[in-house]
Amino acid sequence: MATAELAGKHLVLGMTGGIACYKIAELTRLLVKGGATVQVVMTEAATQFITPVTMQALSGRPVYTSQWDGRVPNNMAHIDLSREADAIVIAPASTDFLAKLAHGMADDLLSTLCVARDCPLLVVPAMNRQMWQNPATQRNVTQLRGDGVDVLGPDSGPQACGETGDGRMLEAAATYEAIAAFFAPKLLAGRRVLLTAGPTFEPLDPVRGITNRSSGKMGFALARAAQQAGADVHLVAGPVALDTPWGVIREDVQTAQQMHDAVMRSVADADIFIGVAAVADWRVDHVSEHKIKKTADRALPSFSFVENPDILASVAKLAHPPFAVGFAAESGDLDVHAEEKRLRKNVPLLIGNLGPLTFGLDDNEIILYEAGGVTRLPRADKQTLARALIAEIAKRLPDTSLIR
Ligand code: CTP
Repeated sequence: MATAELAGKHLVLGMTGGIACYKIAELTRLLVKGGATVQVVMTEAATQFITPVTMQALSGRPVYTSQWDGRVPNNMAHIDLSREADAIVIAPASTDFLAKLAHGMADDLLSTLCVARDCPLLVVPAMNRQMWQNPATQRNVTQLRGDGVDVLGPDSGPQACGETGDGRMLEAAATYEAIAAFFAPKLLAGRRVLLTAGPTFEPLDPVRGITNRSSGKMGFALARAAQQAGADVHLVAGPVALDTPWGVIREDVQTAQQMHDAVMRSVADADIFIGVAAVADWRVDHVSEHKIKKTADRALPSFSFVENPDILASVAKLAHPPFAVGFAAESGDLDVHAEEKRLRKNVPLLIGNLGPLTFGLDDNEIILYEAGGVTRLPRADKQTLARALIAEIAKRLPDTSLIR
């Protein structure tokens, strides 16, 4: 999560009765860390599961539970609390509350707030699978969607009641991601983005191999930013220890050849290709079938190498290439190497960074190289840079990519 990506956003976080209330403590922490102002409103039932004291401590604001709360000077809590809101998020949203929303009922503070709102409404359902599958619930959810309400989740899996199925609330982190995506400008709506990320691993024998220090963080941050910008995102990832960004389709590979093949299988569908992976330039021509052992005379092993395919150059060479973006991680002379690389790989845009010095770090400094010149983006964390970069890419998309 980027620091302060929700800065300036005012959220009313409405909690209704359900065991998933425990997840909202963590969600509130994430939203506050993301820069949002969080005004918690709880139904009477929600206070049976978690106390307003906990929610007040985490949100840093007084919690409201009653329409008749004397703390609101004009006694119009249902209007005042949502007046500045950029969205109301109902999490967890119980079966009962979805039914009330679908019918426009207003018999407590939270339901009245929803009816009186002048901002988007997001609901995060949480219930037992039978309650979720109940035709009345499904009817209500369809009605809410038709009314323009965003329904986030639900998830599938083990439930507090001991059953397994659809209905459990998205985890706090996934809910945060969905809320952050909701607010991101949809600069890539309808676009399909294919990315590579991470290192590759070129085996020498069944236990050893050659790899590099790329963490995959920049590529994963870009995949997340592209998804939030409304794109369909396919991420081809080398071996990295990172969670898949929410809503992104991920394909794991090991070697450069596998990464190349995965990209070539999918590239025809892509409007944009971003090669962020640190791809091994060479692989050994014969991978030993068995572990290479020390010999009695201690002779050193020797390997001969063959060149790997250049994935980015292969994409750029296609008859109808997507808008192709390369990355260059250099340890020096960035301007010279990056522009040379852009021309050699024949891509319209190449992103240069002092990569070997920033592998694994959360901060980065990047420069855009293109025929028209050079653009420097201010140093920032990788998530912020990723958002800025997606905006830069969106600006540069040729019209032809609209009709690919
Ligand atoms: N790249 C690729 N396939 C390769 C090598 C590189 O797709 N086999 C892509 C990378 O994902 C990156 C860009 O090409 O977008 C530049 O990668 P880099 O390793 O810096 O370039 P190389 O051509 O390998 O140049 P060198 O190692 O000589 O610096």
